[in-house]
Amino acid sequence: MALMITVDDMKAVVIYESMFGDNQQVAREVAAGLVDSGVDAEAVEVGEAPTTVDDDVTLLVVGSPNHAWSMPREQTRQDAATKSDKPIISQGRGVREWLDDAALPPGLRTAAYDTRGSHPKAVVRFDHASTSIEKGLARLGGTRVARAEHFLVAGMTGPLEPGELERARAWGIQLGASLPA
Ligand SMILES: Cc1cc2nc3c(=O)[nH]c(=O)nc-3n(C[C@H](O)[C@H](O)[C@H](O)COP(=O)(O)O)c2cc1C
Repeated sequence: MALMITVDDMKAVVIYESMFGDNQQVAREVAAGLVDSGVDAEAVEVGEAPTTVDDDVTLLVVGSPNHAWSMPREQTRQDAATKSDKPIISQGRGVREWLDDAALPPGLRTAAYDTRGSHPKAVVRFDHASTSIEKGLARLGGTRVARAEHFLVAGMTGPLEPGELERARAWGIQLGASLPA
């Protein structure tokens, strides 16, 4: 009998970097959306993520905040730590460093997202971190399955703009639905 692969066999991982929790919330909603679509999915903070992605992963989603027009660097993470009374979430390796070291199964399906300030409008339109993440994933042999998404925060430390968590969940559902059954 032919081997049947169903959506239940699909596993997705959402790797995120986050200072104040906004990107983390987005990652968790994207993972929840993937689960809604029947995919086994989890959100993993980048410092906890193994650099070798398992062969049984069907979809890898990677997201980071925009910092100074790109993925965070050590210096911008230090800057971020001065903006909040609470400890920042991603204190060690960030997405930039993870992409430098990571190994993906050949052709792994990938998607990228970022969080960014919602003002000024002219700046918001430009792609920054997510473009760099997409390039990094392609360099590692990944296959992009969706255009990068951008989720907006009202101020430097958040919160997310109204409706962004719902949009993140819907994007997760859409990503899940795009996987082959
Ligand atoms: C040091 C620093 C630099 C930032 N630079 C930018 C930027 O260039 N463009 C932008 O849209 N947002 C910028 N932001 C806002 C971040 O994108 C925002 O804090 C982040 O998306 C919130 O997600 P987080 O709570 O998960 O860290 C910056 C924030 C910090 C702390």
